[in-house]
Amino acid sequence: MAQILDGTPVRAQILASLKPRIEGLRRPPGLAVLLVGHNPASEIYVRNKIKACAELGIYSELLTPPESITTEELLETIEDLNRRADIDGILVQVPLPAQVDSRRVLEAVAPDKDADGFHPLNVGHLVAGRPGPRACTPAGIIELLKYYRVGIEGRRAVVLGRSDIVGKPMAFMLLHENATVTICHSRTSNLVEECRRADILVAAMGRPALVTSEYIAPGATVIDVGMNRITDLVEATRLGKAAEFERKGTALVGDVNPVDVARVASAYTPVPRGVGPLTIAMLMANTVALAERRACSA
Ligand code: GUN
Repeated sequence: MAQILDGTPVRAQILASLKPRIEGLRRPPGLAVLLVGHNPASEIYVRNKIKACAELGIYSELLTPPESITTEELLETIEDLNRRADIDGILVQVPLPAQVDSRRVLEAVAPDKDADGFHPLNVGHLVAGRPGPRACTPAGIIELLKYYRVGIEGRRAVVLGRSDIVGKPMAFMLLHENATVTICHSRTSNLVEECRRADILVAAMGRPALVTSEYIAPGATVIDVGMNRITDLVEATRLGKAAEFERKGTALVGDVNPVDVARVASAYTPVPRGVGPLTIAMLMANTVALAERRACSA
């Protein structure tokens, strides 16, 4: 039987470790969250981020400019937040509307308030192996692997997906843990063979249940970052999600076929409750670390 790598206890441990650090600060850490427009998935993510702040004693401020906002207006909002003494972290939920220059907006966040680790300076710190805020999802995956004592050093890790949010930072974090890392993507030739060489396979390309048994080496550890909603009953049934579909009218699947991974892998993260809980925990960790750094330099 494959081991299920449940993210819930890992999140609980991370959040518990943050509580005394928050209590040790002179004022609560402050996180500003910018949610532009009404992307339904973003609204759910942001709601959960704000809720996590409240539970932990982090001050949060939600800004919800309209879908029609211009780049210049967003830049002004971010400049205001950069100047505020009570705000330690700023998060701009992506994707942003098409008319907004996302790169300029993300680069406008002060690097020392960059709660997501998306600013190029902090990406550079990651690449150089220097401290700084790290992209939350891959940082959470490293915590999960360590919690469950999945060895990384010397192992062959394959990252499927090359996004700025997950794939690229994940590859560097695994490299810094001394894995031998390959990044695969939609144009990779022999994708199945590349993936099947992995001791640790991280699937993050946003394609429902793409990773089937032939992608997975027997005994591998498989980390599923995907979050895809299935609206077809036949497909949901094939993926072992018939009961969920009956209850909700849709089913959530990752980028990994849940039936196959349970059969072939030695350990894997479920969807939901695998990687998901860790993203927010690491956002909280980044926010607390930024607040501590500001308190030290004040
Ligand atoms: N959109 C999807 N994931 C994330 C994330 O981790 N941070 C932000 N800011 N936006 C996202």
